[in-house]
Amino acid sequence: MTEYSASAPGKFVILGEHAVVYGKPAIALAIDRRISVSVRRCGDLRVNGEAADPGSNPHMKHILDRHGMAGAAVRTDSRIPPGSGLGSSAALSAAFSSAVRGLNGMSQDPSEIAREAFEAEHYAQGRGSPMDTSASVHGKGVALNIPGGDALWDIDRDGRSWRVTGIEAPEMTFVVGYTGIRAATGPMVERVRRYKEGNGFAADVIDEIGSLTLDGMSRVLKNDVAGLGPLMTRNHRLLAILGVSCRELDKLVEASLPHSYGAKLTGSGGGGSMVALTDDPEGVCRAISARGGAPFVVRTGERGVSAGPPVR
Ligand code: PMV
Repeated sequence: MTEYSASAPGKFVILGEHAVVYGKPAIALAIDRRISVSVRRCGDLRVNGEAADPGSNPHMKHILDRHGMAGAAVRTDSRIPPGSGLGSSAALSAAFSSAVRGLNGMSQDPSEIAREAFEAEHYAQGRGSPMDTSASVHGKGVALNIPGGDALWDIDRDGRSWRVTGIEAPEMTFVVGYTGIRAATGPMVERVRRYKEGNGFAADVIDEIGSLTLDGMSRVLKNDVAGLGPLMTRNHRLLAILGVSCRELDKLVEASLPHSYGAKLTGSGGGGSMVALTDDPEGVCRAISARGGAPFVVRTGERGVSAGPPVR
C-alpha cells in the first residue's frame, strides 16, 4: 500500500465538558463535518505539500513515532473549523491514526484507534479526556462514565478512568454558533485545573455538572427536548462559573434562548462555539447572526472514523 486515506467527524458536547476531565459523566454527538487525511511514505514530515516541523504537528509526530516512522507526506482537508470547540484536533488524530495504521497493514479496530488517538491528544494537549477522540472514532454519540449499556472501551490515564458507551444519536435539531474566536483546548483545561486547585467551591460545581449530565442522559434517550434544554442552559452557567465562557459566548447563548429549549457553550470554551437545541433553527440562526456569530445547523447520526476517501 503506497497511500492510505481516512476521515473522521467532529463532535459537539451536549453536557459535561471539563467535568469529564475529572472522571464525571459527559455526552457528545458526532456531526456532519469531517476531516479527511491521506498519508504516503516519506523520509520527513510534509503537510499539504510543504515541509513541516514535527514539533508543530505533535499529534502526527506522536502517531508516527508509535509506528516507527520518521515522516510521511500528509494531505488534510477539513470542514471542521479549528479551535471552534468542535473537536477538530481529535478528529485529525483519529483519521491520522486510521490512515497510518492502514498504510502499515494494521487492524482498523476502533478501540485501538480510540486509544492511539487519545494518546496523541494527550501528548499534544496535556490533561484531557478521551471524549472527543471517542466521539470521532465511534461516530453517532458517546456517553462517558454513565452506568448501563455495553462499554465500547475503557481508557485509563494518570489514575483517572473513563468508561465509554455508544448511544444512538437522537433526532434533535441543533444549531452551532461559532464566535470566530479560536481557542485552544489545553489552556482552558489548565485554567479549570488551577481554579479547582485554588478554590474548594470548584469541586462542587464540577459535581453539579456531573449530576445534571446524568439527569440529561435519560432525557436524551427519551428524546425529551423540553427537559434537556434547561439542563444545557444550567450547564452553561456552571461552565461560566468555572471561568471558561466569554462575553461572545454568553451573548450568543442569550440570543438563542428565546428560540430554543436551551443553549450552552460546547467544548473547551474561551471562544469557539455554542450550541442550541431548538425546533426553530431559522430563528436561532438569525439571532446568532444578528449578534455577530456564524451559525450552522448540524446533523447528528454521523458515522465514525472510516478508511478510504471521504463521502460528502
Ligand atoms: O474544545 P474541544 O473540542 O477540544 O473539547 C474539549 C472538551 C474538554 O472537556 C474541555 C476537554 C476534554 O479533553 O474532555
